[in-house]
Amino acid sequence: MPERASRGTHQVPPVTLDHSQTPVLDALADYKRNQRGRNFSPPGHKQGGGVDPRVVEVLGADVFASDVLAMSGLDDRRMSQQVLGRAQELMADAVDAEHTFFSTCGSSLSVKSAMLAVAGPHEKLLVARNAHKSVVSGLVLAGIDPVWVEPRWDTEHHFAHPPGPDEVAAAFDREPDAKGMLLITPTAYGACADIRGVADVCHRHDKPLIVDEAWGAHLPFHPELPSWAMDAGADVCVTSVHKMGAGLEQGSVFHQQGNRVDPAVLKLREDLLGTTSPSVLMYAALDGWRRQMVEQGQQLLDGALSLARRLRRDIAELPGLTPLATELLGPRLAYEHDPLVLVLDVHGLGTSGYGVADWLREQRNINVGLADHRRVIANLTHADDDTSAAFLLDALTELVSRRDQLAPPAQVRLPSPEGLRLKTVMLPRDAYFGPAEHVPVEAAVGRIAAEYASPYPPGVPVAVPGERIEHEAMEYLRTGVAAGMYVPDTADPSLRTLRVVVED
Ligand SMILES: Cc1ncc(COP(=O)(O)O)c(C=O)c1O
Repeated sequence: MPERASRGTHQVPPVTLDHSQTPVLDALADYKRNQRGRNFSPPGHKQGGGVDPRVVEVLGADVFASDVLAMSGLDDRRMSQQVLGRAQELMADAVDAEHTFFSTCGSSLSVKSAMLAVAGPHEKLLVARNAHKSVVSGLVLAGIDPVWVEPRWDTEHHFAHPPGPDEVAAAFDREPDAKGMLLITPTAYGACADIRGVADVCHRHDKPLIVDEAWGAHLPFHPELPSWAMDAGADVCVTSVHKMGAGLEQGSVFHQQGNRVDPAVLKLREDLLGTTSPSVLMYAALDGWRRQMVEQGQQLLDGALSLARRLRRDIAELPGLTPLATELLGPRLAYEHDPLVLVLDVHGLGTSGYGVADWLREQRNINVGLADHRRVIANLTHADDDTSAAFLLDALTELVSRRDQLAPPAQVRLPSPEGLRLKTVMLPRDAYFGPAEHVPVEAAVGRIAAEYASPYPPGVPVAVPGERIEHEAMEYLRTGVAAGMYVPDTADPSLRTLRVVVED
């Protein structure tokens, strides 16, 4: 197997601004240095003064000392120092975007803002069906009419890879009035789309491409990593810096370029959904991460990439464990694969990914990024080193030596692609907000879903409000939950009942 599945075709973006500057971090340092008197404004803990010492013991005093208001705190009452604006400008420059917006509500908010900037109530939007549930929430909230674009199914390995240019072109032929396309790439398994090909199709129709690049924060900063949205011509892209970068949890950014999506509208949509109390802690971490990546990203990611190569090679020597990468690629499969996502097939150990994830946490205090019926995912970042790699390898070596003690996997009835192709018969918003009832899961077959059912992670819904539920999809969820799958978003997490639309 070649050591690198990425095609590595892009250049790291050229920067034009002074990236040694960190406006948010600098303003925060000034604030802490110069603070005189007291604040008679939120946050009520007053830089930690009112915090129970038992809380400080766990969280540390610095968290509270740095938790200041963005307005009339970090910046003045009218934000005249443009602290946030300058930090966003630097971030845009770092990734070669025209505008960047920081969000402290995760990509879950950023992706909705992007969708609402492109389509509104009853308007159509092409959406790859491997969408995260936050995308479906965007459809529900905005009353958008989704035109699902089929993922590329790998029936041998049971993966849903992002669709490519052909599938998107066919969808535009069917629905020429669609306002744009939303592509999800990379997937949580590191599978990437041909973004440039999809962008070209969208632009031939003069429609914008939104890319949900939640898993791709690191991609711009190393030429051997898969191509990434701004470089490949997307109009808007959304990134969770907390996933593969060094943001704090919920730290997300979205980038814009070109004239198909108005940055002013994008900003309005963010304002519609966002908080009026953004966390300066998150802003500061985003700001510092950008400087780190511009100054040292290539070198840091070099280290992570060679670590990933070594780990993949060493894990491949362990009987029963198969690292996957090139197996995911092909003409009708994924276009590229992120080598920092270690996809480990554990089927050869005679157990499930759920069993391995639980064993690693219980026996070795190791948490993996994702587990499914036959795989676990280990996400590597620039924060990993020889010690963390050795820790994982050692734990996996012990796991293999104890394979006889691992519980055999409960049988998950895996659906065929057709079985997962549920028909949307109602606007998701109407199904979600209209009259609904809870019925035993067996009786839900043939009914219209009024809630999501998303195995988590990665949080891609099997059933979306407005879809008519079919037997295979329901059996997958039912047997999956029995095997250890976690479905947190149904009203009844045991999935004995499901919320469905009351039809006339
Ligand atoms: C593809 C995708 N999009 C969006 C999100 C939401 O990101 P966040 O957790 O930053 O809100 C996730 C989260 O897992 C995701 O996997």
